[in-house]
Amino acid sequence: MYNTGPTTGGGSETHQFLEQLKKAMDGKYHAIHSYENMADYAPNSREQNRILEIRKDEINHYKQFSYIFTSLTGKEYTPKIDKKYPESYVKALNEAFIDEQNTTDFYLEMSDFPIYPQIRRVFRRAAADEQNHAVWFLYFLMGRQMKSSFRFNDKWYI
Ligand SMILES: [Fe+2]
Repeated sequence: MYNTGPTTGGGSETHQFLEQLKKAMDGKYHAIHSYENMADYAPNSREQNRILEIRKDEINHYKQFSYIFTSLTGKEYTPKIDKKYPESYVKALNEAFIDEQNTTDFYLEMSDFPIYPQIRRVFRRAAADEQNHAVWFLYFLMGRQMKSSFRFNDKWYI
């Protein structure tokens, strides 16, 4: 439990942090479901396994965020479910890349909240993971782009 060494600047900052934490959990919950769906459409097992590894990170983050929320409030948060998925695998990759990039910034902002050092560390680590996920999704997108660019006379030039 995060009950030692508080450095919060007051109730309103904690309230603001909790609102951001709920938003982070909603996003995480969506990513967990969305990546499960995306993995089903991956073009090969290597890409599929990587997406499932990324999904495992998202589950770990979700558990950590949930633990923080319960530690600070004594309550459990039920995330809002958004089951809308992109209509194609490429769109899903693109959306995931942009989401991971934005989430990196969002978590870094959250790690700046004047709150417990342990919580700051969780968000800094999660931001680093998100940046890593973004790079993987970009790599998958680039791979698809290159395949279509280098196909000529029914031969692959990569
Ligand atoms: Fe991620």
